[in-house]
Amino acid sequence: MGPVSLEQLERPARVGERFLLYRDPERAVVATFGDDVRAGLSASRKHLSPKYLYDGLGSALFEAICFLPEYYLTRAESEILDRFAAQMVGSLDGKIEIVEFGSGSARKTRFLIGETLKRQSRLEYHPIDISASALIGSATALVAEYERLEVIAYASDYFEVLAASRLSTSNRVLALFLGSNVGNYEPEQREALLSAMSSAFKPGDALLLGYDLKKDARVLELAYNDPTGVTAAFNKNLLGRINRELDGGFDLDAFAHASRYDSVRGSVDSYLVAQRGQLVSIDRLGMAVRLSVAEPIHTESSYKFAPEDIERLATSCNFRVARTWTDEADRFAVSLLVIV
Ligand code: AVJ
Repeated sequence: MGPVSLEQLERPARVGERFLLYRDPERAVVATFGDDVRAGLSASRKHLSPKYLYDGLGSALFEAICFLPEYYLTRAESEILDRFAAQMVGSLDGKIEIVEFGSGSARKTRFLIGETLKRQSRLEYHPIDISASALIGSATALVAEYERLEVIAYASDYFEVLAASRLSTSNRVLALFLGSNVGNYEPEQREALLSAMSSAFKPGDALLLGYDLKKDARVLELAYNDPTGVTAAFNKNLLGRINRELDGGFDLDAFAHASRYDSVRGSVDSYLVAQRGQLVSIDRLGMAVRLSVAEPIHTESSYKFAPEDIERLATSCNFRVARTWTDEADRFAVSLLVIV
């Protein structure tokens, strides 16, 4: 596996009319995936990063999760954006361009794109997502739907895009970090990411942050352990992806999905729990992983927040909370954080 040249990283592909895609080369992605899998499964407490949940199949399973009656987050956030998008966009002065971290299907983004295009003739939209397949699907649909929209997409890790400062923006930036994606980060990483966001843009630019509110443990645990089993499939797909991309030998039936709310940390933690002792080979990594019966692999933390938590986070990352909107049932919130 040779080194990745900067040139390779920086040459965008024209996927369609008004749609450019910057894409990290496949082998760089595989190298990182392999390295992270090796490190995570060699640790004394085994773990895998949730960012690898989103290959093509994983992104489709997440889309299905959003339709589950138990997973209220997506619907609650859509309700907020549908209702308040005009106020959100109207809070900013000047010509806007939108940068979105973790755009996925970008279904909810349409409320904001629509409102912005009522106020200006053209709009540049910069979605950043780890899943190239999700980006291609959503951006193709968006440029077909909005004639005055131009999409410049980045299939990459957020930190890499922010570090490579490929986002050279001249207009007023409205950055979006929706869907409670912020909840997937541990406190330290969360601060690092929001700080990187505030330094990537200018004072007066803003970040619209969507987050799930702290609430009853039963409601939260059901949202992450639905009786239909879609979330279990979504989580187990991580092992399936290791099998497909790294020649792994995981038997997905030998694992159970589990999610528990830790009210002290304010996080729903998801695991894949080995149902028997086993030795699993991962051929492309030249390694074998030993798991004992009932041993967990941590795959995801989904943090929940109180408004005060967000105030504190904003302040320590050079933002101020300008305004917060919630859904009718007060389950979810969207805050506008303005760079100081
Ligand atoms: C997309 C990261 C916000 O943590 O709620 C859904 C992912 N995991 N069900 C979340 C997820 C299990 C989701 N985020």
